[in-house]
Amino acid sequence: PLARSMSMTSLNGLLQCEDEDLPVEDLLLFEISWEVTNKVGGIYTVIQTKAKTTADEWGENYFLIGPYFEQNVKTQVEFSEPPNPAVKKAMDTMKSQGCQVFFGRWLIEGSPYVLLFDIGSAAWNLDKWKGEFWEVSNIGIPFHDREANDAVIFGSLTAWFLKELSCQFDDKPNIIAHFHEWQAGVGLILSRSQKLPVATIFTTHATLLGRYLCAASIDFYNNLDQFDIDKEAGERQIYHRYCMERASVHCAHVFTTVSQITATEAEHMLKKSPDVVTPNGLNIKKFSAMHEFQNLHSMYKARIQEFIRGHFYGHLDFDLDKTLFFFIAGRYEFSNKGADMFLEALSRLNFLLRVHKTDVTVIVFFIMPAKTNNFNVETLKGQAVRKQLWTMNHLVKLAVCFLCRGEIPDLNKILDRDDISIMKRAIFSTQRHSLPPVTTHNMIDDSNDPILNTIRRIGLFNNRTDRVKVILHPEFLSSTSPLLPLDYEEFVRGCHLGVFPSYYEPWGYTPAECTVMGIPSVTTNLSGFGCFMQEHVADPEAYGIYIVDRRFRSPDESCNQLTQFLYGFCQQNRRQRIIQRNRTERLSDLLDWKYLGRVSQLTPSSCFCPWQTEGFRFPRPSSVPPSPSASQHSSPHHSEAEDEDDDERYDEDEEAERDRQNIKSPFSIGALPQGKKKQHGEYRN
Ligand code: UDP
Ligand code: G6P
Ligand code: GLC
Repeated sequence: PLARSMSMTSLNGLLQCEDEDLPVEDLLLFEISWEVTNKVGGIYTVIQTKAKTTADEWGENYFLIGPYFEQNVKTQVEFSEPPNPAVKKAMDTMKSQGCQVFFGRWLIEGSPYVLLFDIGSAAWNLDKWKGEFWEVSNIGIPFHDREANDAVIFGSLTAWFLKELSCQFDDKPNIIAHFHEWQAGVGLILSRSQKLPVATIFTTHATLLGRYLCAASIDFYNNLDQFDIDKEAGERQIYHRYCMERASVHCAHVFTTVSQITATEAEHMLKKSPDVVTPNGLNIKKFSAMHEFQNLHSMYKARIQEFIRGHFYGHLDFDLDKTLFFFIAGRYEFSNKGADMFLEALSRLNFLLRVHKTDVTVIVFFIMPAKTNNFNVETLKGQAVRKQLWTMNHLVKLAVCFLCRGEIPDLNKILDRDDISIMKRAIFSTQRHSLPPVTTHNMIDDSNDPILNTIRRIGLFNNRTDRVKVILHPEFLSSTSPLLPLDYEEFVRGCHLGVFPSYYEPWGYTPAECTVMGIPSVTTNLSGFGCFMQEHVADPEAYGIYIVDRRFRSPDESCNQLTQFLYGFCQQNRRQRIIQRNRTERLSDLLDWKYLGRVSQLTPSSCFCPWQTEGFRFPRPSSVPPSPSASQHSSPHHSEAEDEDDDERYDEDEEAERDRQNIKSPFSIGALPQGKKKQHGEYRN
């Protein structure tokens, strides 16, 4: 019915609805993705962070559909009966035919309903469903491609559910189904081929071919219109997946991409331009105390410093107070994520810091999951030594207490034989005959690992003389880790700079997450996020968003530019870093789902979001230092003192206020729902 009554069409790239004001009560919205309750990469972040805004708008009529995996569900889902009788009936029909379907609330903000299909329990239908899929699409799925086979099962179950659901209604409620990425696309293709009365949306977060071609170090963006895409897909043995993706795009009523750069890519790799570009947002909560995020930086930096004390025991001849923490994080796609260029730039940075005899040390974390055999002994030993030293430190402090009270401590009173043994052991154990390890884990494929091989080539082995030290942590972070017990968010807050020099990055959540936490980051003009910032912020660098030009420069020039950014960052003093973090955090509103997440804002008449207005740009901060080096001379009340970090907050508050006034005109940020400013969310600033 929706497809009939609303007749969604694409006109000038905007959604047009003939029946504009269909109330939400008359609609059911389903969002379908392989990453619902199942974290793989950024698509999980899209869905999880948007859930609150969508649930607020759609209430009981919003449902997510994903795969059932016991280990995910155990901690994330609370099972319940579906309150909607039609949903319950559709599920019961499927269950009665042997499929396991689970229903409950996903325990994230917004607590949306989730419907999870157990792929394994339905796998006995695989051959039949592959046959049916072939009948409607002529796409054959090879038996050895597990992911594609799972996609057929997941898609067939989704279409079956939508069929059982929609056949219960003559008219309202109308059903909208929003499918993400090719793994969910089979459900869309089948819904359309079965002519289900469902309005369909397909969002691609990357094209398969784009990802593969870029990973093969092909000059992708200069040859977009040159590729024989069928042939390229065939040669890479992804022809069937590429067909699934392309068919999903062409079958959807509305096709969207997450950035303009992916829109252009889709035009060439999928032969269709999106109807709408929907940039990714985040769920942002403002702290009532404006500087809370700065305090958190300090707190979590101290936790990272603790880890570093252990990791570099015996080699801690650098000043931790003058040590900067940089990091790169994400799925392990060595060149797509720009880890190759980052390492090369680090080698150049090491050289610059050494020849200029800088007293700054940079410690760089690579957080990229790879196959491992647990933590390595040397790393665990480092943390054990640190704990021993901590005990010794306490004993010494106790002695100092006595001395402060003017008493000569009787060592026999405060230290027994065991204490002295501990102290001796601690001193012996700090002697080290090897360099602090470059990786925290035993890598399964150590000799072929691209990060380790590059480190071997450029010689960044954590020598005493190196000003740049490297730590590869080949596992996502977790607060339960015995090594570095921090969640990813806490870790990011404790760092100084996120570095994401991606070559292939349709959006790129990692720099966006840094921004809303007030941590500066490096991105590129080949990432959706970087282009979005370039478009909407007049001087991104002044706000701590460094955009490397990887589009119009040679790789060597881009690498030099990245090196200059990193070196410039190292030249800032503490005060300048604090000011820069304040500015970075001010961009958070740009990335809030509150504004980016509303379909209504896509229509020109209801557009209330200033940066959705064509031509809007966040102005330069009023006391703008255009680059860190210039800021040394131009920021107000500049002082070289490293530790005067409280007074300037006042100046910064004033600057923030001035900027708020500036932004009011001409798009009136006052039109934003300020009253509702306090949102719940994982990113509290
Ligand atoms: N991430 C995480 N834990 C980590 C490192 C990264 O949860 O230790 C998350 C990060 O928060 C981000 C996602 O992984 O949301 C990566 O998304 P992005 O869009 O940057 O890249 P993708 O992996 O989707 O290509
Ligand atoms: C925050 C804290 C300050 C601290 C500073 C360190 O601003 O509020 O108390 O001195 O971080 O900044 P840094 O860039 O040196 O880690
Ligand atoms: C994909 C892209 C990433 C994007 C994410 C969410 O995994 O690789 O750039 O941020 O989807 O849209």
